[in-house]
Amino acid sequence: MAPTSAPRPETRVVVGISTVLTMDGTGASAEERLGAIDDGALVIEDGLVTWIGPRDALPTTDKSAVDLGGRVVLPGLVDPHTHLVFAGDRAKDFEARSRGESYASIAARGGGIRTTVHATRAASRETLHALGRERLARLLEAGVTTVEIKSGYGLSIDDELRQLEVISSLAAEGPQRLVPTLLLHIIPDEYRDSRATWVDLVRQELLPRARAQNLASHVDIFCETSAFTAKEAQAILSTAVGLGFEIKAHTEQLSASGFGATAASMGALSLEHLEHASDEVIAAMAASGTVAVLLPTASIFLGDSAKPPVAALREARVSMAIGTDLNPGSSPNFDPWLSGTLACTWYGLTPAESLLGMTAHAAMALGLAETAGRLRVGAPADFVVAHASRWEALLYGLGHRPVAEVWCAGRKIRG
Ligand code: NIG
Ligand code: FE
Repeated sequence: MAPTSAPRPETRVVVGISTVLTMDGTGASAEERLGAIDDGALVIEDGLVTWIGPRDALPTTDKSAVDLGGRVVLPGLVDPHTHLVFAGDRAKDFEARSRGESYASIAARGGGIRTTVHATRAASRETLHALGRERLARLLEAGVTTVEIKSGYGLSIDDELRQLEVISSLAAEGPQRLVPTLLLHIIPDEYRDSRATWVDLVRQELLPRARAQNLASHVDIFCETSAFTAKEAQAILSTAVGLGFEIKAHTEQLSASGFGATAASMGALSLEHLEHASDEVIAAMAASGTVAVLLPTASIFLGDSAKPPVAALREARVSMAIGTDLNPGSSPNFDPWLSGTLACTWYGLTPAESLLGMTAHAAMALGLAETAGRLRVGAPADFVVAHASRWEALLYGLGHRPVAEVWCAGRKIRG
């Protein structure tokens, strides 16, 4: 006879953790906010953390506990900024830049983002899905369990919605949690001489349709001389806010538009890049609690020596997040650990700041502070078991990923 009682929720006890970084600590310093617990243990039920603390306080003696043998555990990484649904590549741009041409000049002669737009429009939905799936798998290998993905390579209403639909179908497959962002990237060529018409179409048709079909939770805009003006960006983001989207902006990346201050005062969750952020932008971010998403591999890959004003951001207590910016043009980077290490060596973050930036602060940049980036009671049991016995070793390395196992919702899915 079939059992009549309800199945017991799946329980797992994990021990043998040399240090667990909860990213849930309190205190003024980044080191304190890592919330490190030595000789830690975790209890997982139904995919959620139901207990976390030192092993000697573990409320259960479970003989079937998983013993990690003395390794560091940290939350599943959060990549708060990718453009990973695209077709084609930009190897020719890379070659041109190596000969001295700038990203802006390549864009001005019709290359750059436009090259990817042509390839992405020409690819079938199935191809885009398969490309996205493969890239997500590479991020998962690296320990990334939550990923933001932007559109922005469609540049027509239908093509942008199609890119978002591909992101939705990837999200439905799991196992990673995906955050779909509608990115207004550049003005489509078709509207080069009638920019206002495109801005109106975005406000009156694209944003309402994306909202009605629940295809995006966030709207991002690239405010730059080669993209949208501050005035256009403000108009589009204010429509997005009115429709209930969370907003963010690629701004102060290649030049100082100052739009970051406006976006922050409009309630932007995050501002991205910020290599040229002024004191005024930083003050506005501090006042609104806007997160700074730093993308070191984008500036390094473009050979741009400008660095975001990390000391001033720290001083103003702006939370800093780190992303890969995975995209074909400025950052074909699949390695969040490389981003984290370069955030230390090139931008001047401490390893503790960088690790917070790859987890808790990245989740804040996506409005997911409660559900990702931290290990605490009630949070999904998404975590990385590292090939390291001390957290200080996690970012010490170039091109080596300290990932032994990846767990998502309480299940080991890699390693
Ligand atoms: O984050 N800044 C604009 N967008 C991307 C680049 C995208 C591309 O070059 O295809 C970025 O760097
Ligand atoms: Fe980007």
